[in-house]
Amino acid sequence: MMVTSFLKKRNWSARSIIEDIARSGWSNVGVDSSLKEFFMADLCSEYDSINLYNLLYSRRQEFSPYFVQYLDFWYADEKNHADGFFELSRLVFGMSELSLLQALQPRTADFSGMHDILSDEFRLLLKFAYDEYISVKTYKKDTFYEGLGHPGFRYWIKNLIADEAVHFGNAIKLLRRDHSGRMHECEAVLNMISNFEGESYKNTFLFDHDGPHFSLSGEEVGQVIVQDILQILHKGSV
Ligand SMILES: [Fe+2]
Ligand SMILES: [Fe+2]
Repeated sequence: MMVTSFLKKRNWSARSIIEDIARSGWSNVGVDSSLKEFFMADLCSEYDSINLYNLLYSRRQEFSPYFVQYLDFWYADEKNHADGFFELSRLVFGMSELSLLQALQPRTADFSGMHDILSDEFRLLLKFAYDEYISVKTYKKDTFYEGLGHPGFRYWIKNLIADEAVHFGNAIKLLRRDHSGRMHECEAVLNMISNFEGESYKNTFLFDHDGPHFSLSGEEVGQVIVQDILQILHKGSV
């Protein structure tokens, strides 16, 4: 009998989906090289998970085993997402992974000012819930990659969306399971989190909402998201 874990984890390979597209003979006929920056923004959004993961890695002692597992599952997925964008940049623009890494690695994350929202597991879970919920929404709205003309792109984005939804769902599960005594604090903490909207992105993985490829407007983030999450938290299932 297969034992399913409490936290959900999907297993798939972004690299192999993009490799299949490459093998099918697809070639870039319409993506202008001026869009390199646009692709780079998407790669950074996923790649920067390493900065948040490393920041939280040093604090594992203070976290519950499930939250540690949450972080490991989450990071494995985000890394897979970043890998897909590496492959995509190679496929579309012929950019080597090495040149992309050379562009990515000198960037540093600035978490200053975020201390309050990163201060404990409860707040971190709300932060993940907020951020991942927005990831689902922006990827759902985005049809750019589907438009590249191969069904594999749509399949790839569908997998990304499903993962971001799992990250959201797992955070909600842990909030309900381990932090039910603090439900009355959720609204204030979520408001504190949403107040970061509008600030410029500092390579932290969080609030990367000012880049060239973020598809939600100012009215679609912040309070509406806070209210959606509160509603989901307070009803029975995700
Ligand atoms: Fe992601
Ligand atoms: Fe995610």
